[in-house]
Amino acid sequence: MRSILVAMLGLAMPFSMNAQEARIKIDLDRTIGEIDKKLYGNFVEHLGRCVYGGIYDVDSPLSDERGFRLDVIEAVKGLDVTTIRYPGGNFVSNYHWKDGVGPIDERPPRMELAWSRLETNHFGTNEFMEFAREIGTEPYFAVNLGTGTIEEAQQWVEYCNVAEGPYYAELRKKHGYPEPYNIMYWSLGNEMDGFWQMGHLNAEDYAKKAREAAKLMKLTSPEIKLVAAGSSNYRPDADPNEWNATILAELRDVVDYLALHMYVGNPSDNYYNYLSTPLVLEQRTEVVEGLIAREMENANRGNRDPIYIAWDEYNSWYRARDAETMSGTRALEEHYNLEDALVIAGFLNAFVRNADIVKMANMAQLVNVIAPIFTSEDDLFLQTIYYPLQLFAKNVHGTSLDLFVDCDTYSTDPFFVGLGESVTQQDAVPYLDVSAAVSGDEVIINVVNRHKDKAITTDVISQSGDFEGKIAVYEVNGPDVKASNTFGRTEVQTEQKDAVGAKGNVLTYSFPAHSFTQLRARIK
Ligand code: AHR
Repeated sequence: MRSILVAMLGLAMPFSMNAQEARIKIDLDRTIGEIDKKLYGNFVEHLGRCVYGGIYDVDSPLSDERGFRLDVIEAVKGLDVTTIRYPGGNFVSNYHWKDGVGPIDERPPRMELAWSRLETNHFGTNEFMEFAREIGTEPYFAVNLGTGTIEEAQQWVEYCNVAEGPYYAELRKKHGYPEPYNIMYWSLGNEMDGFWQMGHLNAEDYAKKAREAAKLMKLTSPEIKLVAAGSSNYRPDADPNEWNATILAELRDVVDYLALHMYVGNPSDNYYNYLSTPLVLEQRTEVVEGLIAREMENANRGNRDPIYIAWDEYNSWYRARDAETMSGTRALEEHYNLEDALVIAGFLNAFVRNADIVKMANMAQLVNVIAPIFTSEDDLFLQTIYYPLQLFAKNVHGTSLDLFVDCDTYSTDPFFVGLGESVTQQDAVPYLDVSAAVSGDEVIINVVNRHKDKAITTDVISQSGDFEGKIAVYEVNGPDVKASNTFGRTEVQTEQKDAVGAKGNVLTYSFPAHSFTQLRARIK
């Protein structure tokens, strides 16, 4: 590393006032791909207080006449959520959608076996669709391929997407919803590679069941796009590549996306290890991209797009992970801090850098359950991870750019990527984690400075002309990496800083320690 070399040569100062510590070069002709708006999706599962006590609370004075918490709706709208996956998660693998439609007092309460609750079924397909419309998001449904049948999956598509005629379309109309929902995105089960999944199958059996479900679902509603359950199990004894290879080989003509899941964490309290985990996500993305490319050579897809990757569950989740915190009505209530927000910014950077293959991503989950929004009976607060997600969802659109980044790096120890995950060891982790997009005449540059103690002075160099006018600066930061938010106290949030000016095609900017910065510039 340069700084070590300088020290060995006995030079007094590694960097003078004008020699910058890092360089980011931007060339508008070096593009990666279109950024799909579905990268900024989320996830609502019947789990803990995500639905009941989160988005839906009929007894709350904060709710409207339908039972939707208005303060939650406002906070959700602030995230510009493009897609919401529903209703699970592990929950879906024993969910029978017919339990959740029709008159509320006739809906059967069920034992919820994934997270040990009583499921009243007071919230179901039609309530979710009203919520989705209220916040202006695209629904993305998951069918039960655990204990559910392919026939049940077909009937749900009929209920949602067929205008009139057959029994389930007419049933929807009878329930008070005359127009079909035309739900475009459907996933074929959830985490079917996981031994914990109710109705878990091996890869061959899952592929067979998924193909037949897909056939019936597409015969019912030919336009729908289907998502296969790819790898979620990265335990040392699992073989995620083998799972993905089999699913892709068997379903390459049928599905539109392969779903991947990843949860990371910092159980051993090692900041630098933890901050490198988005690189693991990126490495997994690259491996799956290769597997997809191989299968696409022999696929018979007509004029359809190739299969894309949907990271349809990602987040940090490691605190609420024992028997007590993983069950009941207060399950998975994780409280996030600044380092978690920086990891989320890293994930989003990785999605943008891989925008040609990653076309959908869903933070898990939306409210209370490992979520950016956290409620009490009469209040809510925005968790640290809300802010990077918001900056990306609002501003990072258009075309992703392939950047040149030169900065110091570090190496990690061998460490567990998250609880129940494999061990990794990362060499050459760049202190600056960067992505960029061009949208119209605006260039958006996203920079995580992973350094815990040091600002990094950087030349941001445009190779496509001079910067024009002032450059807007937004920063997510806090007093230290453990800083967090709670009711009535916000330590981590987005701050708009003073706009900065460039000299010609060079902007010199000092990215503060442990921060996420978004620059919004124009290039002549
Ligand atoms: O998001 C929490 C859980 O994590 C989901 O239910 C499951 O799919 C994953 O294991």
